[in-house]
Amino acid sequence: MKTIEQIRADFPELERIVHNKTLIYLDNAASTIKCKSVIDAVTRHYSFDAANIHRGVHYLSETGTMQYESTRDALREFINSESREQVIFTKGTTESINLVAWSWGIDNLKKGDEIILTTLEHHSNIVPWQLVAERTGAKVVEAPVDDNGDIILSELKKKLNSNTKMVAFNLISNALGTINPVKEIIEMAKSVGAKTLVDAAQAIAHMKIDVQELDCDFLAFSSHKMFAPTGVGVLYGKKDLLNAMSPWQGGGDMIDVVTFEKTTYNELPHKFEAGTPHIAGVIGLKYAIEYIQEIGLSRIEEIEHELLTYATKKFSDIKGLKIIGTAKHKSAVISFVIDGLHPQDIGTILDQQGIAVRTGHHCTQPLMKRFGITGTTRASFCFYNTKEEIDKLVAGINKAIELLG
Ligand code: ALA
Repeated sequence: MKTIEQIRADFPELERIVHNKTLIYLDNAASTIKCKSVIDAVTRHYSFDAANIHRGVHYLSETGTMQYESTRDALREFINSESREQVIFTKGTTESINLVAWSWGIDNLKKGDEIILTTLEHHSNIVPWQLVAERTGAKVVEAPVDDNGDIILSELKKKLNSNTKMVAFNLISNALGTINPVKEIIEMAKSVGAKTLVDAAQAIAHMKIDVQELDCDFLAFSSHKMFAPTGVGVLYGKKDLLNAMSPWQGGGDMIDVVTFEKTTYNELPHKFEAGTPHIAGVIGLKYAIEYIQEIGLSRIEEIEHELLTYATKKFSDIKGLKIIGTAKHKSAVISFVIDGLHPQDIGTILDQQGIAVRTGHHCTQPLMKRFGITGTTRASFCFYNTKEEIDKLVAGINKAIELLG
């Protein structure tokens, strides 16, 4: 088993000096830093293997195709998809959700239909549905959260009815860290025949996800939140739904035969993969999956839970600090406000000390409105963070209070 020192040595960015201080990276919910094996794989691809895939008979095209497709196999196993064809590469979680909204939504939603979203959603799981609702006449319905940031299941239940066609929600809230009762919500949606989309962007590198056990219809996540490159996302879908859906974007790879009179489309998964993809990124992602498997998701959960407990306790001693998001089940994310201080000013003072956090509305404006605030300062932890780093964060916050208060 790797020690924390060995784990940290796998992430070169942790040695970065920022403003003359060793970086303390606590913005993992926005994007994780990258592990060395991923960086090496991407560098190797661009140094020696760069070529297009699925198109050439030449050596590099064929080996590139094999590597790219082997990431799909690794993902199939990682999320326990029924088949590899149900694992579709996109640009990111946002594109995965847009794909479902535009492809499934346009064909399946009509006037009077309802799409239930929760107050916890990131804009990327709100706006695509609003765009499609405008086109189809369907209505977006909000399922509220309580003062802790937990979805109020009794309220959600009241909103479900025979008009509900989709329930789309995140597994973990990016802004508050709430871990949602995903199985229960899926069961509730199924009881009225609604489809479900789970935004797993914040969960995929932090807890075990088994799509067959969840029985979700769609699941979306991004590679850059799992130690791999930006510009790569994944959409998992139930096979019958994906097969019935129209292609979303047209171009190379997604076609079968093209004539000016009529075009026929490729099989899954290629039907939804138009254009040259982020080949190096997808190849790199396989190494990230292997890395997560090497550390083990149960160990990751354990370490991150300990960091959350430690930080929550330390934060409770900071005068004037209020944690926003106190759900029973939380990932290692702490959003907070401090009386009289602006999150951006706190973030700037922390940055001067080499501490990276995110400030603002976290692309969740409706959620911020629910709590009567315009934004928070958010520290999001990962298994490579340490209690010593949390101590420095706490000292940094106290310094901000002293300077700004
Ligand atoms: N969704 C990302 C975040 O929460 C960008 O910061």
